[in-house]
Amino acid sequence: MRDFNEMSATAAVIDRMAGCESPRLREIMTSVVTHLHAVIREVEPTQEEWLAAIAFLTDTGKICDDKRQEFILLSDTLGVSMLADAINNRKPSGATESTVLGPFHVAGAPPRTMGDTISLDGKGDPAWVSGRVLDLDGNPIEGACLDVWQSSSEGAYDVQDPDQPDMNLRGLFTTGKDGRYYFRTVRPSSYPVPTDGPVGGMLTALGRHPMRPAHIHFIVGAPGFEPVTTHVFVAGDPYLDSDAVFGVKSSLVEPFVETDDSARASELGLANPFYVAGHDFVLARQAEAD
Ligand code: BEZ
Ligand code: FE
Repeated sequence: MRDFNEMSATAAVIDRMAGCESPRLREIMTSVVTHLHAVIREVEPTQEEWLAAIAFLTDTGKICDDKRQEFILLSDTLGVSMLADAINNRKPSGATESTVLGPFHVAGAPPRTMGDTISLDGKGDPAWVSGRVLDLDGNPIEGACLDVWQSSSEGAYDVQDPDQPDMNLRGLFTTGKDGRYYFRTVRPSSYPVPTDGPVGGMLTALGRHPMRPAHIHFIVGAPGFEPVTTHVFVAGDPYLDSDAVFGVKSSLVEPFVETDDSARASELGLANPFYVAGHDFVLARQAEAD
């Protein structure tokens, strides 16, 4: 093929993939090339603009390491992560909705007993979080595992903050026959996604704030059930309608009720006053989810 031009460009590149052995890769790359060429035709970038785009992607790659994944943050802040999440987690009605995993999950959090605290440094506003893990018919699920992690009351995860002990505000809880879970923690705060890299620069240039509304992360799973990766968001947070990563679903927002009751506080092992929040998780059986 010669005389590659504005008219023939897309077909020329797609034809060149005729020898691709994977039909799925060919399908994906055909779509990528088609849409990428459409963007270039539509915006007609100058050479400087195109080089700026290449420099942005280069910087995004350069800042990545085994702890920092700026491309995921880019995907998150452009709504791509939540779109892929929605497509891959179509659930039967009534099942707990999923949301973005985020970069701060750590595998191997310590197993804890119901009622334990996940706040190892005791810093922050005390909170009691509880609920049940249920199937779609409302029956409790025994042996469900809840992997919980959250930011501190100051809005930082242990992995970001050298002043927090390792595995602070993380834990694994397993339900008994009643499907109930309950633990002590601190009320989470809203916090910014990392802004010291190219994605932070992009957000500023686009007139966007970097904040996520306060939330607790959960991965809830049980044998025979489809696991769900989700959050419980704090009702009333000012960023619920403008989450930097588009992760909020109304069904996941819960009140954290300020409670002034010293008898109840000492029964629960919390300082008074404290916050009380609840959320039930509903899992679909593997067959129902399919
Ligand atoms: C988080 O909730 O931990 C998170 C999600 C996406 C980007 C940054 C942080
Ligand atoms: Fe988070």
